[in-house]
Amino acid sequence: MAYDFNQRMNFNFPTSIRFGNGVIDELGPHLSQEKLKHVLLVSDPGLIKLPVFEQVSSLLRNAGLRVTSFSEIAKNPVKSNVLKGADLFHSSGCDCIVGFGGGASMDVARAIALKVHHPLDLFDYDDAIGGDRHVTETVPYFVTVPTTSGTGSEVGRSTVIADDVTHEKKILFSPRLMARKVFADPALTMGLPLFVTATTGMDALTHCVEAYLAKGFSPLCDGVALEGIRLIADSLECATHAPDLESRSKMMMGALMGATAFQKGLGVVHSLAHPLSTLVDMHHGLANAVMIPYGMEFNAPVSAPRMKTIARTIGLEDESADGFVRWLHETNAKLGIPASLALLGVTPEHVEKLSSLAIADPCHGSNERPVTREDFASLYRKALA
Ligand SMILES: [Fe+2]
Repeated sequence: MAYDFNQRMNFNFPTSIRFGNGVIDELGPHLSQEKLKHVLLVSDPGLIKLPVFEQVSSLLRNAGLRVTSFSEIAKNPVKSNVLKGADLFHSSGCDCIVGFGGGASMDVARAIALKVHHPLDLFDYDDAIGGDRHVTETVPYFVTVPTTSGTGSEVGRSTVIADDVTHEKKILFSPRLMARKVFADPALTMGLPLFVTATTGMDALTHCVEAYLAKGFSPLCDGVALEGIRLIADSLECATHAPDLESRSKMMMGALMGATAFQKGLGVVHSLAHPLSTLVDMHHGLANAVMIPYGMEFNAPVSAPRMKTIARTIGLEDESADGFVRWLHETNAKLGIPASLALLGVTPEHVEKLSSLAIADPCHGSNERPVTREDFASLYRKALA
């Protein structure tokens, strides 16, 4: 595809990432070197029961740091989680924050980092009302340590927090909310169960695919997205069914690359997926996994040249958009992901509401093929059949 060089664009790839098997050993010494003494370790209620939590806490303590743990966070994080974490930061005398876990842990950690020195109501910083202009104070030293390979929140600069009562989701965004350092250690993902590996992995794949297909001029993001697709296609099945360090490393890198690339934009699949989480509480990665073949089939008439490049990159025999769509269906089947929304609690009665939510979702704004409300309804019906 030819690029249009008659435009002005920003590209940002600023996150400092320490990647590799065993790099978690360097976290404590790194914080000590930064003259930090007391960590607020933000994780989730599931993670604190796993050996990996004690492993990381011990590593920090052995490096001479004090550790205060905070894990009272909901699956879809809410404002009161953030306020409680910020209070604990102050009352314990912490001086830095480590977001440790999946997307929810890192999102809450990022929001706590914002809140501790910003006195306005948390939702005054809502990006939709220009809240980023209030993000003017310093943010405590903030590090992310992912334990899943999916959301890529570790390299993000925004966080999604819901209202406790209305469940309305707000996006808090500022370049100041980027982690000062990411410690991405694939060994931390070795214990990740099959379902979580498959669904978070499909989320990462969807990030790379939608970023690559998104409208807009971004050769840097395109390159990152395409290599991310290659790494994930090469390793997701193995990482799910026969995990080894190589496949888990490729997945962790692919997830990082997806979230780096999607500053370019996402597309129709994420707009289809978000309402499934809102309305029937479907896991985000699972929703993307089920919907991506249908989203790509819809995009094919417009995005076929780029889909052909994807098919070639992942080494498909059929180097066409159809071949890519077929590969997506086959991959889902191999990962044990249901082929139909009907198997996941969605009924034809949900289609109207789902379509209304999908058309209001901003992600499809960067989809190469414009999407109407009727298109969304038809895609949901196809996925229900
Ligand atoms: Fe996603």
